Amino acid sequence: MKSTDFIVARDDLQQCKIVETQLPDAAALPDEALLVKVDRFAFTANNITYAVLGDQLKYWQLFPAPDHFGNIPVWGFGDVIASRHPGITVGERLFGYFPMATHLVIEAADVSKRGLRDAAAHRQGVAPVYNAYARVSGDAAFAGRQGDYQALLRPLFMLSFLVDDFLSENEFYGARSVMLSSASSKTAFGLAHLLHLRKNIHVTGLTSAGNTDFVQSLGCYDEVVTYDRVTSLPSDSPVAYVDMAGNSDLRATLHRHFGDQMKYSGRIGLTHRSSSPDEPELPGAKPVWFFAPDQIRKRAKEWGPGGIDMRFGAAWSGFAPMLDRCLEVIEGRGGAAVKQSYLDTLNGRVPPHQGHILSLAD
Ligand SMILES: NC(=O)c1ccc[n+]([C@@H]2O[C@H](COP(=O)([O-])OP(=O)(O)OC[C@H]3O[C@@H](n4cnc5c(N)ncnc54)[C@H](OP(=O)(O)O)[C@@H]3O)[C@@H](O)[C@H]2O)c1
Repeated sequence: MKSTDFIVARDDLQQCKIVETQLPDAAALPDEALLVKVDRFAFTANNITYAVLGDQLKYWQLFPAPDHFGNIPVWGFGDVIASRHPGITVGERLFGYFPMATHLVIEAADVSKRGLRDAAAHRQGVAPVYNAYARVSGDAAFAGRQGDYQALLRPLFMLSFLVDDFLSENEFYGARSVMLSSASSKTAFGLAHLLHLRKNIHVTGLTSAGNTDFVQSLGCYDEVVTYDRVTSLPSDSPVAYVDMAGNSDLRATLHRHFGDQMKYSGRIGLTHRSSSPDEPELPGAKPVWFFAPDQIRKRAKEWGPGGIDMRFGAAWSGFAPMLDRCLEVIEGRGGAAVKQSYLDTLNGRVPPHQGHILSLAD
């Protein structure tokens, strides 16, 4: 039996190809291993960032590929088609981190009622979230269109939730206005939704001209400004900046424009992929990477077992209905469709109202 894998050249992301890899026979699976058929997965700019940071943050080591190629991790669903673990039966559905492939062998460990972990040696040394699978068979919140929303947005909205919590905990560093770059991205509009609920925070979306109408239509930004007009923003009161675009020129322009009124400058993403080291003397707060696992560890300790899940669940329930209104799920099946979606996402050709759900299976 073979797996069909979609892989990309690690040093030139425009190069990509489909390859077949040999899978072990069900009978030859090691003890406690599962053979999982990857059913469907989401693909957004976040996955491109995994590729851009593949070496630095060890994403390439999770699903090894031959030569100088890499398999980009994706969030999605898989069905167990063979099991050597006594606690997991064939037919179980899992939600978690998968390769862009038709199959994955998981070395199941820490199996509980709610989930399990892949203990494969090459997957260690990364944040635990990347090796955790939720057992979601029969869970309506992970089925059908709701399931697509989970794959597309749940990991992104966790970041939105953590940044909202972090800013609020730090009283927005004295700012009452928050600017978000790549405001049309799913991570940004999830955060804008949460900030908007706070009522006393002015939320400004920075975006490209072509995505302005979409960002305005979301209803969670108080103001939308195109990148070429950011210096028209009033600069006489404190602001916080949450940067999904990772565009160094834009960041420098904003810091120079707001000067000491720039009270927080948090780096989240790299959608524009035009990042160079910051100038050492940028005015205002020093730009810092927001590191989600730090905030998770802190809140897990303070809120106790289940505390994050409970609060995140409540936030998700308030957010998910918005997706029916602003997101169109586009499904792509087979190698050609996956390649097209990958290249469109890589080259910024996916309209922001689309969410791509893909499968390499026939
Ligand atoms: N640090 C973390 O833990 C963490 C967690 C979640 C997400 N993130 C990051 O947040 C960012 C957003 O991810 P997402 O999945 O939410 O994105 P998405 O929904 O796919 O965002 C698409 C938007 O990004 C911009 N964009 C995408 N590709 C581009 C290109 N080639 N050239 C120029 N602009 C491009 C455009 O926005 P504009 O026109 O509005 O600029 C586009 O509408 C990613 O970099 C992701 O890695 C980080």
